[in-house]
Amino acid sequence: MSVLRRKSIETVIRQDDDEGSEHLRKNLRARDLIGFGIGIVIGTGIFTLTGLQAKENAGPGVVISFLIAGAVALLAALCYAELASAVPTAGSSYTYAYSTIGEIFAWIIAWDLILEFALGAAVVARGWSGYIAGVFDLPSAWFSEDGSIVNLGAIFIALLLGGVAIRGIRESKWVTNGLVIIKVVVCVFVIAVGAFYVKSSNLVPFIPPAQKPESAHSGLAAPLWQALSGIQPTEFGFAGVLVAAAVVFFAYSGFEAVANLGEETEKPARDMPRGLLGTLAICTLLYVGVCLVITGMVHYSQLNEGDAVADVFSQVGLGWAGILVGIAAVAGLSSVILVDIVAMGRIGFALARDGLIPGVFARVHPRWGTPMLITALTVAAVVILAGFVPISVLSEMVSIGTLFAFVVVSIAVVVLRRTDPDMKRPFRTPLVPVLPIVSVLACLALMASLAVETWLRFLVWLAIGLVIYGIYGYRHSRVGRAVAAGEPAPAADELEETP
Ligand code: ALA
Repeated sequence: MSVLRRKSIETVIRQDDDEGSEHLRKNLRARDLIGFGIGIVIGTGIFTLTGLQAKENAGPGVVISFLIAGAVALLAALCYAELASAVPTAGSSYTYAYSTIGEIFAWIIAWDLILEFALGAAVVARGWSGYIAGVFDLPSAWFSEDGSIVNLGAIFIALLLGGVAIRGIRESKWVTNGLVIIKVVVCVFVIAVGAFYVKSSNLVPFIPPAQKPESAHSGLAAPLWQALSGIQPTEFGFAGVLVAAAVVFFAYSGFEAVANLGEETEKPARDMPRGLLGTLAICTLLYVGVCLVITGMVHYSQLNEGDAVADVFSQVGLGWAGILVGIAAVAGLSSVILVDIVAMGRIGFALARDGLIPGVFARVHPRWGTPMLITALTVAAVVILAGFVPISVLSEMVSIGTLFAFVVVSIAVVVLRRTDPDMKRPFRTPLVPVLPIVSVLACLALMASLAVETWLRFLVWLAIGLVIYGIYGYRHSRVGRAVAAGEPAPAADELEETP
């Protein structure tokens, strides 16, 4: 038995078509996918990290950081779109890796995605808690980052939205669509109203000149490339713009969750590429607009670190607008948490169906149509993380996890073009293999800008995953058992016999 055993593409598609297998309901279209995408993408990244990075690393140049991060995400999206339209299934990049580079890589990807979505939900839950404390003037000891032991607001919102996700995709879709509209409206409002208060003097110089940092990032907190090369860090300048790009990459993470909904999409061949690219295009436009306006309204050195997007309105004398934006941000952040939890459930579902975790997790609730058990487990993990782990630790982990998944998906596109050149590809990534290779290099470059300690935590997480695979997944894998028995790839209805 080999850890590089692969699932054939035909098996993946047959598994999805098989009448006897556990199924998710098919009721999503391109518009819903873009709704889900925006729901998971626009969040703490734009509402919280923008102000912080403009102030600490990039000035108004944070606009360029967002463009760089968006370009890297676009390269990966073009790779995702080919695979998601050809292999529409609940597991997304996990399933693509399974069909191309082998089981152990698929497991690593899934383990990595768990990190991205569970920690992403926890980051945003903590961001939500901070905003709600601002709007209602709640005690910071229980709602913010400043030294509190437990974050009650984050725990509350994770439990509430976890319940919605367990109750069903149709219901979550309605809740999400409502919140997404609020979020887009608030971004457009910030751009349209804020534009009248932009002072061109605030935008000059666009990239503040490089200077020595007040408190140098050193040791384990230094970016990996700096620790390896020994180059001294600077604040601002183009290097600052690049560091900010790696950090604000968090703002784009999650768009690929759209690909996890392939199995619930009515016409995945047409709607998957539209969903992925549409989500990214809309988010990039809104991000760049919001960044330009808020750094133009107030000098970057005066931006508020906690709620910059709301606070700039108070600073120019529009307090009512600041409160409205704050309330809308609270609503918008809720949808990110919800979609993260839904996506996690789908990944667990695919893993259980393949026997890499116990099959009982793939059971779909008879009335609600959701993988209830795995979703409930996800919620429990998010609640603990959100309650007790600081936002800075969580958010860098999400960035590294997302970038790593992008690297594997980009490689999978090239491998699959060679191993299965005749596969039906409703959407083809342009310029293969150049574009996927550039995508891999760009992702690695951003990963190198993250802190050494983030890399260490990430490697420990991967090691834990490999131990679990060695103890359980390797022995119980359905593909592995079929290969060992000399049988063709298993049919989906054998799932019930998975121990
Ligand atoms: N992209 C999401 C955010 O910015 C995770 O909150």
